[in-house]
Amino acid sequence: MSSATVERHDAAHSDTPILTLDDVGKSYGNVHALRGVSLNVRQGEVTCVLGDNGAGKSTLIKIISGLHEHTDGTMTLDGVECRFPSPRAAQASGIATVYQDLALAPLMSVWRNFFLGNEIHKGLFRTLDIARMKRICDEELAKMGIIIPDLDRPVGGLSGGQRQCIAIARAIYFGARVIILDEPTAALGVKQSGVVLRYIVKARDAGLGVIFITHNPHHAHLVGNHFVILKLGRVVLDAHRDELTLEQLTTEMAGGQELAELSHELRGADPGKVVTPAEVEHGQVEAPARPQEEEPSA
Ligand SMILES: Nc1ncnc2c1ncn2[C@@H]1O[C@H](COP(=O)(O)OP(=O)(O)O)[C@@H](O)[C@H]1O
Ligand SMILES: [Mg+2]
Repeated sequence: MSSATVERHDAAHSDTPILTLDDVGKSYGNVHALRGVSLNVRQGEVTCVLGDNGAGKSTLIKIISGLHEHTDGTMTLDGVECRFPSPRAAQASGIATVYQDLALAPLMSVWRNFFLGNEIHKGLFRTLDIARMKRICDEELAKMGIIIPDLDRPVGGLSGGQRQCIAIARAIYFGARVIILDEPTAALGVKQSGVVLRYIVKARDAGLGVIFITHNPHHAHLVGNHFVILKLGRVVLDAHRDELTLEQLTTEMAGGQELAELSHELRGADPGKVVTPAEVEHGQVEAPARPQEEEPSA
């Protein structure tokens, strides 16, 4: 969509975005993983970033979370240009990233994970204040409606959905202003996905700017205020919720024009046809061609 769409969206909200990307690009040698990406992340909104494999979603997250630096364009936080030389620098600026698999340490207990890197100590010998950490962890999870009967249990025994939720609660408690969720529902079933989507809404209601990375238009549309679709490293659509139906989002994600062409091509292949083993044996049907290799992606 045109940049006019983006401006209209901006005008509808007078508050300035927390985080802005302006014409951001990233090259890995000769590979342009991102080109001219502009994005506004606002407080109390869910910004969905959609795109197929290789679209540049992970690259975008890596730039915002301080894992990689962008090679073009500018990023601003509260209107001030910034660059994050390390994940710690991004975290210190209030940007929390929840990676799909690396969100928590599986062998550690729930409360240890909650305070990992932010432990509370007490007394002259600075011993861990376990009772206090457990109490806070319990209270914070309860606030989010997350029920975990035993906080001493290793996180590895919990469901994927529960782990994502603990990571979200932790980010909120430690004062994150922007939370990035990298495909949090990709490996989850319908019910667990629902649980995570609820906490995405809670993070939004807690006033965070949520960046929700997904390739599921249904999940995006359930919670998103704002949608950005990446394709081969470029923004191909940037629209506010009012400007887009679920059908349009689904079609865009399915590849719109490409899908129409494929449909046209496959019509000739007679999709309703059934091939019997006898036909194959008598050489009346060609052996299927080897499926083409998928494009490699990081
Ligand atoms: N470290 C890297 N070195 C070289 N190319 C990379 C690297 N990371 C990603 N790419 C390339 O950048 C493009 C975007 O990748 P990525 O951001 O992982 O997409 P997505 O997360 O949407 O699947 C791909 O073509 C990928 O091969
Ligand atoms: Mg990725």
